[in-house]
Amino acid sequence: MGRYLQRLAISQLLLYNNCVQYSLMQSLHKINLIIMEDFSMTYAVRYQSQGGKTKKVAQILAQTLGVEAYDLDTPITEQVDYLFIGGGLYIKRYNQPIKDYLEGTDLSLIGEIVPFATCNEFSNVIKQIRNFCKNNNIKCANEDLCIKWVLEGMFDIGFKGAEFTPELENRIKEFAGKFLA
Ligand SMILES: Cc1cc2nc3c(=O)[nH]c(=O)nc-3n(C[C@H](O)[C@H](O)[C@H](O)COP(=O)(O)O)c2cc1C
Repeated sequence: MGRYLQRLAISQLLLYNNCVQYSLMQSLHKINLIIMEDFSMTYAVRYQSQGGKTKKVAQILAQTLGVEAYDLDTPITEQVDYLFIGGGLYIKRYNQPIKDYLEGTDLSLIGEIVPFATCNEFSNVIKQIRNFCKNNNIKCANEDLCIKWVLEGMFDIGFKGAEFTPELENRIKEFAGKFLA
């Protein structure tokens, strides 16, 4: 009888121990989830693209950040830590659709703007976005991504362009990676 009681007591203790361990693990899991939720960054990617090159860059950025890239028809409706925004330039001083988009956006939803652009020789898009941030007191990332595509010929500008190399793809991924939490 003594042995039986001893074994029962041990099994009860083990059971109790398992329960305590289980509830401890559950609590740790919950704490982990809360920490991950609080610290994981949120991203949005928006682009303006006539010929598809900026779209391609935006898609790789978005894929690296784990979100979708949308054109400027899609407004920002939720809080984001980083808004990546970029476009091409078409014989203008600045990119009007980007200007309109930023002016029409509720800037209180955005933590920081990350500019990117594709161009032939020289693009004002990055400068334009930086100026917007400065004038509107919104944080702009120190780094930006300006892709100068090597073009095949004058008539290809913006529409065909050169091959999309793995080096170029890596450069875009590396850039996005800098903003991953
Ligand atoms: C009509 C036209 C005008 C352009 N003007 C400029 C320009 O002034 N400066 C520049 O750097 N690139 C200029 N480009 C090049 C584009 O900005 C560049 O090819 C860009 O990658 C196009 O982006 P997209 O393919 O996303 O539209 C021009 C392209 C086109 C088609």
